[in-house]
Amino acid sequence: MAEDLNILKGTKEEQYKSLIPQIQALVQGETNRIANMANVCAALKEQFHFFWVGFYIVEGDELVLGPFQGPVACTRIGLGRGVCGAAWEKEASIIVPDVEAFPGHIACSSLSKSEIVIPVWEGNTCIGILDVDSDRLNDFDLVDLKNLEDIVKIFNKS
Ligand code: SME
Repeated sequence: MAEDLNILKGTKEEQYKSLIPQIQALVQGETNRIANMANVCAALKEQFHFFWVGFYIVEGDELVLGPFQGPVACTRIGLGRGVCGAAWEKEASIIVPDVEAFPGHIACSSLSKSEIVIPVWEGNTCIGILDVDSDRLNDFDLVDLKNLEDIVKIFNKS
């Protein structure tokens, strides 16, 4: 049974360091990917108050909106479209300091200013994308990249 998160104040590094074991404990023993994605979104939102945090899940040749926290968002994104579709196509994480400067960025909300997108793997297959948006410019760095990549490893079972 889930317990309340222990929300730590401190540097971003310290906050991730405190949060990651809690996320691991939260998803441990639960095999349903959607349930685990939902709790990952809630945990990230509660700790960091990101503007939007959510998963897009690969379905055929599109990404389809999955569990998220934040304002309503676009439901389908094609391969190579927007930041999420680019990360899926390249199978690589992308940091976007200013979304207006990213060619083809899909604006789900005009309040979103910067973004980080992380592929989610199951074995060698990209099964989705973690997308985190901020309402501030240049809000993501390599600390976020490393720690969010560590967090999505919980979905990689092989
Ligand atoms: N901005 C994303 C679309 C998803 S929303 O930000 C929630 C993109 O360009 O792929």
